[in-house]
Amino acid sequence: MRTLIANGTIVTADGSYPGDVLVDGERIAQLGADLAGAGVTADETIDASGKYVIPGAIDVHTHMELPFGGTFAKDTFESGTRAAAFGGTTSIVDFAVQSRGSSLRDGLDAWHAKAAGNAVVDYGFHMIMSDVNDDTLAEMDRLVEEGVPDFKLFTAYPGVFFSDDAAIFRAMQQTGKNGGLIMMHAENGPAIDIVAADLVAAGKTDPLYHGIARYPVFEGEATNRVIRLAEAAQVPVYIVHLSASDALNAVRDARDRGSMAFAETCPQYLFLSLDDMGNGFEGAKFVCSPPLRTPEHQDQLWTGLQKDDLQVVSTDHCPFDFHGQKDLGRGDFRKVPNGLPGVEDRVDLLHDGGVVGGRFSRERWVDLVSTGPAKLFGMYPRKGSITVGADADLVVYDPNRTRVISAEAHHMDVDYSCYEGRSVQGASDVVLSRGSVVVRNGEFTGRKGHGQFIRRAAADYARLA
Ligand code: URP
Ligand code: ZN
Ligand code: ZN
Repeated sequence: MRTLIANGTIVTADGSYPGDVLVDGERIAQLGADLAGAGVTADETIDASGKYVIPGAIDVHTHMELPFGGTFAKDTFESGTRAAAFGGTTSIVDFAVQSRGSSLRDGLDAWHAKAAGNAVVDYGFHMIMSDVNDDTLAEMDRLVEEGVPDFKLFTAYPGVFFSDDAAIFRAMQQTGKNGGLIMMHAENGPAIDIVAADLVAAGKTDPLYHGIARYPVFEGEATNRVIRLAEAAQVPVYIVHLSASDALNAVRDARDRGSMAFAETCPQYLFLSLDDMGNGFEGAKFVCSPPLRTPEHQDQLWTGLQKDDLQVVSTDHCPFDFHGQKDLGRGDFRKVPNGLPGVEDRVDLLHDGGVVGGRFSRERWVDLVSTGPAKLFGMYPRKGSITVGADADLVVYDPNRTRVISAEAHHMDVDYSCYEGRSVQGASDVVLSRGSVVVRNGEFTGRKGHGQFIRRAAADYARLA
């Protein structure tokens, strides 16, 4: 099957130019001006006049079917990747979980079983490490070889995923030997738990107090600490879902002194604030960790994206229904399952707030949602680029179409939207995953099981720093 995407403006992280893209099978076969005029033939021609043609977006932080907070994140690999495709995202990297006392192998196998035959677009895995010991350290090497080269550890969630400094440092030393990457959820969990218990004891049990308990300084302190540990181990480190200017300052200082420190933020920290958590139990819809912050943090994060102190925008997609899941925490905010839906909305929100909002260029937008993650997570140039030989993960994107985000219209399997009623400018018209059209003008045309495992390489972080 040959598909010609004609008359569009090709937008990449490096630049934009008018041009056509010829797709042959699963790959990009040719680029150029007026390919049809030059005699190129195709089975189908997609007219991209007035539209952008961008590399399929990549979301490197999702949690499909995550067991968490006494329940499971609602989207499966089928529903979650389908929703991703509607939003122009053609690859996800999800977090497989090593449960306490089990092996990394068992956790990874379980995630392969959830995704294989179900995903609609391509997927890779990072590994959440709950235990750091001689066995799991040895297993890390094997996972790197199998295309799962990153490991998430937590300074938060004592008793669940929490690792102490010794465990974190040992895991970092191991990546110094095997080339992997440590990803850190950096909040001081033990300190947060003390503040949270005090608030509950004082009768402050509404979801708002989830946000109050998790001080920005607790994120800043943990971020600085794990970066310093990485410097001591002489390895790169990647801070996930960075929300507070305190943490951003730690990353910026580290980068200024030449550290291999990288970080992502998420749309919720750019568009939502602590105010959204204030409406009684409705605030449970916005309970995630780190929490939403006051608006001045948002401004700092946008600046961080402009200045490359933040290199990636991912979603941390972890959806729980308001009715039946979030309400496990009625009467005690500590029991609200942590996580927000978002895999479908990231690309459009960033286009609207970033490009339309005049904060950065369309090329930087592509970099943040596609090319940057592809480079940092060992998928480039197969993913995240529009070059001959790359996977034909492509989006024909209308930069002028507006849409209103709503739970009724979205495709994520969750009963509310964090952005209900928000109008965004920019939307995906046609989405191709490895050469197949999976979404066309609001209709799903893909297939469950089309998505394949992405075996990723360890990146050259020193070069990317
Ligand atoms: O609240 C969140 N972020 N839930 C998902 C798990 C995690 O920490 O990323
Ligand atoms: Zn986390
Ligand atoms: Zn997460």
